[in-house]
Amino acid sequence: MYLSIPSEKFTMKSAKPYIEEHKERFIQELVELLKIPSISADSAYENDVIKTADAIKISLEKAGCDVVEICETPGYPIVYGEKIIDPNLPTVLVYGHYDVQPPDPLDLWDSPPFEPIIKKTELHPDGAIFARGSCDDKGQMYMHVKAMEFMTSTGQLPCNVKFMIEGEEEVGSESLGWFVERNQAKLSNDVILISDTGMIANDIPSITTGLRGLSYVEVEVTGPNRDLHSGLYGGAVANPINILTKMIASLHDENNHITIPGFYDNVDELSAAERAKMGEAPFSKEKYCAALDIEDVYGEAGYTTNERNSIRPTLDVNGIWGGYIGEGAKTVIASKAHAKISMRLVPNQNWETITDLFKNHFESIAPKGTQVVVTPHHGGQAYVTPIDSLGYQAASKAYEQTFGNIPIPQRSGGSIPIVALFEKELKSKTILMGFGLDSDAIHSPNEHFGVWNYLKGIETIPQFYHYFTALNT
Ligand code: BES
Ligand code: MN
Ligand code: MN
Repeated sequence: MYLSIPSEKFTMKSAKPYIEEHKERFIQELVELLKIPSISADSAYENDVIKTADAIKISLEKAGCDVVEICETPGYPIVYGEKIIDPNLPTVLVYGHYDVQPPDPLDLWDSPPFEPIIKKTELHPDGAIFARGSCDDKGQMYMHVKAMEFMTSTGQLPCNVKFMIEGEEEVGSESLGWFVERNQAKLSNDVILISDTGMIANDIPSITTGLRGLSYVEVEVTGPNRDLHSGLYGGAVANPINILTKMIASLHDENNHITIPGFYDNVDELSAAERAKMGEAPFSKEKYCAALDIEDVYGEAGYTTNERNSIRPTLDVNGIWGGYIGEGAKTVIASKAHAKISMRLVPNQNWETITDLFKNHFESIAPKGTQVVVTPHHGGQAYVTPIDSLGYQAASKAYEQTFGNIPIPQRSGGSIPIVALFEKELKSKTILMGFGLDSDAIHSPNEHFGVWNYLKGIETIPQFYHYFTALNT
């Protein structure tokens, strides 16, 4: 299935000896980056987010980029770097993000989120770096910077490179959309390369071929105009918290299908053959449950766990609040109740349409005596990439070389909404070479990234450049 590669013309030495020589520094540099709390969601950390952009600029310069710029946007800056060695050669555009999720709840961390430490775990016997952003995405993004350093300092960079590292991915990439629309020529490329996803296991490499789309909304239910005594008024007026939970519960039926009219209208259904192929990926329900301390999995009838979290759309409450949550008991009917709800979407579902469907439906099921306000936050389209593209083939070859086995194509349940926009605006395919594990606890307390995974990424990325250039020339 692979195209033949004229191997004498192109070589890329293994990065292993270089990594062995420099690994302590590679780890230390990442540790320094992880110390800066670049939390894009919280404006209290504005200076730290900007400081992180500056640190990345310096690291790209040191890695051999000829031009590095901090590009201002209406929001956080985008760090752009490039090294153009020959306009006739292919160009790889690397995307990553330097912002991180808020670390709370802080008390669930075993060590402070911005004081990185290395500890061994069952899945990471060589140690893992524990810190917010270690896997998502500073650690994975920085693999590309170090791979660049290897290629330039050993005189082996085979093609042109552009870096575009943003600081708002965790809050919806609004400024990046703005930037991409205005800089199509500057960002022109032959393939986009991202490490911001995961793989099945350290001995079962996989390449992510799909991301789900997203519609994220916030809802507010208002009942009476003030908080009430729950004895004097209870039973006689709508309690916003009771109503909100009832409305939310009604969004799934007994088979865990979503009940919003029209929600499934455009869902791309996979053929039996495609589903069978997906089913070949190794998966142990027992291990899955054991890792999460749950007795059984739960989800939409008629689909496997791997299907439920990748090719099927979902609706989840991410947060819910209202009423009295302080110490002890207070008898009260709150005036308002709130929830944050995300819908993960699959190919052909339009996120704006889904947001409208949700809003109309949610407002329509509110009983008299309540008012409902639905406020959309952000969203984006799902993405799937074919496995017969030159980019995918180059990635597959690269993994085969450094892992010793052929990676499995796998659709992920996570979202990087900007990827669909890249394809629309820049007309190129994205290759998702992720080196994290699902158990690395991204967005959770005790996020970590295996040292082995970090170094393996640095080793594999140059091989991608090599094969991609060879396949394109
Ligand atoms: N890197 C993740 C997405 C991801 C993780 C995809 C693992 C596949 C596997 C990204 O930083 C992220 O968290 N995205 C958000 C959406 C964003 C708009 C806030 C997500 O998926 O919740
Ligand atoms: Mn990420
Ligand atoms: Mn994330």
